[in-house]
Amino acid sequence: MLELSHVHKVYRVGAFGGSTLRAVRDVNLVVKPGEVVSLIGESGSGKSTIGKMVLGLTKPSQGTITFEGKDVTRLRGFGEKKEYYRHVQGVFQDPFSSFNPIFKADRVFEMIRSSYFPDVSDADWREKVLDVIGTVRLDPANVLNKYPHQLSGGQLQRLLIARALLLDIRLLVADEIISMLDASTRIDVLNLLADLKERGLGILFVTHDLSLGNYVSDRSVILRKGAIAELGPTRRVFENPLHPYSRHLLSCVPQLHRTWAEVDAELAANPPEDVVLPTVSEGDDSAPLVEAEEGHFVGIDQR
Ligand SMILES: Nc1ncnc2c1ncn2[C@@H]1O[C@H](COP(=O)(O)OP(=O)(O)O)[C@@H](O)[C@H]1O
Ligand SMILES: [Mg+2]
Repeated sequence: MLELSHVHKVYRVGAFGGSTLRAVRDVNLVVKPGEVVSLIGESGSGKSTIGKMVLGLTKPSQGTITFEGKDVTRLRGFGEKKEYYRHVQGVFQDPFSSFNPIFKADRVFEMIRSSYFPDVSDADWREKVLDVIGTVRLDPANVLNKYPHQLSGGQLQRLLIARALLLDIRLLVADEIISMLDASTRIDVLNLLADLKERGLGILFVTHDLSLGNYVSDRSVILRKGAIAELGPTRRVFENPLHPYSRHLLSCVPQLHRTWAEVDAELAANPPEDVVLPTVSEGDDSAPLVEAEEGHFVGIDQR
């Protein structure tokens, strides 16, 4: 359904764009219907850049991203983009920033209505909204007609997922959507993702919480400096991490409810052995993987 092939992203940085920053390097990955793929990596490893490229918010410097066979990087014009967003939606870390504080929270539904369903009657629309609110396990009485500040982060996050469900979405990019929620709400939102997966949605799940993230995900991708260090069935990656970086990362998070800030601090205080970047030879910025066991791949230089 979603396929990234040799995707690179180089940002121009510095005062006059004089230097470059390699945010994503030679990433290949696939998300199938009904599959949750976790993107795991410390801050700055390129997770959000991958999410943004999939959502068409920034273009890869090299490589292709296809969704149901269509090249996402070549969507032309308003019509094609709109059609794409009918099937692919993103939800991000900070739910408050997705709502305008001066309007009621359910205005986000109206925006979908005006762009995608202008001809639906009020009664039918109301039914549709109540239906998706039920799907995300919210009580309409608690969330409709409320301002964002009257709702919790978890409620807002679920409203954003409900909004996406008004469309015929097939792929959801969830970028650290549970990181700002408290522990019990995190589990509720993860259960919701599991429901969506049951309905056949593909989910690219940028995760923050390694201890909970693995619980819904079918496959995990460990990113290190923009390149895939390891990719495989989640259980295999967590039980038998093969890349030294994955081992290090996973050894830092045995406890439940540990924050990413704590993990980052520990990684900074106790850096992993410096891995050789997956560069095959000078000037070659490919990051090849080898298949160590069925479906379980490791960066070539890291065995
Ligand atoms: N718009 C941008 N311009 C320049 N550099 C960027 C931009 N967005 C992200 N970066 C850099 O790219 C790298 C990867 O960032 P990001 O994808 O946000 O990582 P993550 O989500 O894993 O924390 C970081 O070094 C970040 O500073
Ligand atoms: Mg990010």
